[in-house]
Amino acid sequence: MKNSEQRIKIALQKSGRLTDHSLDLLERCGLKFTQSKDQLFCYGENMPIDLLLVRDDDIPGLVSDDVCDLGIVGLNVVNEKRLALEADGIDALFDPVFELDFGHCRLAIAAPDDTPFADAASLSGKRIATSYSATLGDYLQRNQITAEIVYFSGAVEIAPRLGRADFICDLVSTGSTLAANQLREVQTIAESEAVIIQTRAELTDAKQQWVNKLLQRLDGVLQVRESKYIMLHAPRAALAEIKRLLPGSEAPTVIPLDGDNGRVAVHAVCRENVFWETLENLKAAGASAMLVLPVEKMLA
Ligand code: PRP
Ligand code: ZN
Repeated sequence: MKNSEQRIKIALQKSGRLTDHSLDLLERCGLKFTQSKDQLFCYGENMPIDLLLVRDDDIPGLVSDDVCDLGIVGLNVVNEKRLALEADGIDALFDPVFELDFGHCRLAIAAPDDTPFADAASLSGKRIATSYSATLGDYLQRNQITAEIVYFSGAVEIAPRLGRADFICDLVSTGSTLAANQLREVQTIAESEAVIIQTRAELTDAKQQWVNKLLQRLDGVLQVRESKYIMLHAPRAALAEIKRLLPGSEAPTVIPLDGDNGRVAVHAVCRENVFWETLENLKAAGASAMLVLPVEKMLA
């Protein structure tokens, strides 16, 4: 076996909405890497993990074909590939491992501002431009609508202006691409976010161990992202109410204070963001000296 075959390869989007987040997530897992001159390859310096930066649409295929062991990509792209393979009678050889809670967007039908749309039936007999032919085809079939799917590999939003389509079906994140092209979103057909997928091919024990370690760290990174460490003083009598108000915390630590006065210190990890409203409610319940700190790492 060549040395390079013992290294884990992860496919990431090379330039787009998911790129920075994907790299940041892996850095938070402790991976240090050097990027090649053309920026398409990252060599992991402190772990046997390398990154391949490719077109997002190619990621499920690379993982399915076992060229890469893992991939970070939008669920929309994963589902499109799965449906397209199924249509050819081929089983996709990858499995989603978990959702990564970034890159949230939706696949939606959009119409030119002056084109009427009431419901899905308004698409009947129309031409719809998309890069997501399989997903759109599946949606139309489930809604028993016959329409023409016009495939565009990119810049789908210009299809109506070119007279190539009546509607489009594309990803919408902020909505600014649609607005800039005088299009309006009329129907969501799927929700999406970034997911990590793993090949179904069997890995060597050494590789699988590194994959497990990476996935566990990823899980830890996702857990701490919203987590906060909160410290406060409170009257002992208000403890039940204070615990009730702390968002998503399990068994806070209660510490007696010097000189007591019936007051205690409460320390808790909150697995949700702590908003000003929560602090105000805690104050109303008798809490004081409140401190909210970010959580750096967590390992269950
Ligand atoms: C999607 C979509 C739009 C844009 C929408 O592209 O095709 O161009 O994002 O985002 P907005 O609502 O924030 O304007 P994607 O990032 O998937 O890139 P790709 O089509 O090049 O893969
Ligand atoms: Zn793409």
